[in-house]
Amino acid sequence: MKLFIDTANLDQIREAQSWGILDGVTTNPTLLSREKGNFRDILHSICEIVDGPVSGEVVSLDSEGMVKEAKDIATIHKNIVVKIPMTLEGLKAIKILSKKEIWTNTTLVFSPLQALLAAKAGTTFVSPFVGRLDDIHNIGMDVVGQIITIYENYGFNTEVIVASIRNPLHIVEAAMMGADICTIPFAVMEKMAKHPLTDRGIERFLEDWKKVEK
Ligand code: G3P
Repeated sequence: MKLFIDTANLDQIREAQSWGILDGVTTNPTLLSREKGNFRDILHSICEIVDGPVSGEVVSLDSEGMVKEAKDIATIHKNIVVKIPMTLEGLKAIKILSKKEIWTNTTLVFSPLQALLAAKAGTTFVSPFVGRLDDIHNIGMDVVGQIITIYENYGFNTEVIVASIRNPLHIVEAAMMGADICTIPFAVMEKMAKHPLTDRGIERFLEDWKKVEK
């Protein structure tokens, strides 16, 4: 499974990159609003740090505007993926962009049928938001399972990015289901590596090492 980091913070991206496990980055307008600097410069800097897909999002609501923005964002770097919201106008834009070989990540996906439409339009990636579904008493990971089954049934090449991840269990479930990618906030990514028994084990080994003749 590929691991993306869900942030526009360059320090976090550099740190996660140094762990040797990072495959890509996703951003959105909210994440970019938390950082200082021009969004184009930030996206370019991210592409210099991570050699993998880096998502930047359009804010137009009409397909013409989305395509125009997408073409512009795609010029930032060869690894840029353009996030398009899952609307009917978004579908039109995805279809046009897929013909122009601009990678798209269909975002704000909350149902298997939305994911089916996005794949049919030719999206490169689809992003179901599991945490936001959990927040309204729907089981986000159930939707991921449905999308994976549908894509397998019909042989779609669209890759599933499990997004809006809130805790490590989302990632375990995604991996068990065979999701292609998880995009993970920095704090959750750190938690993936941690285990109290590992910490206790290291403490004990270090204590015992003091008793070993050297
Ligand atoms: O990648 C989408 C993600 O950023 C949304 O996460 O936590 O705002 O629901 P959240």
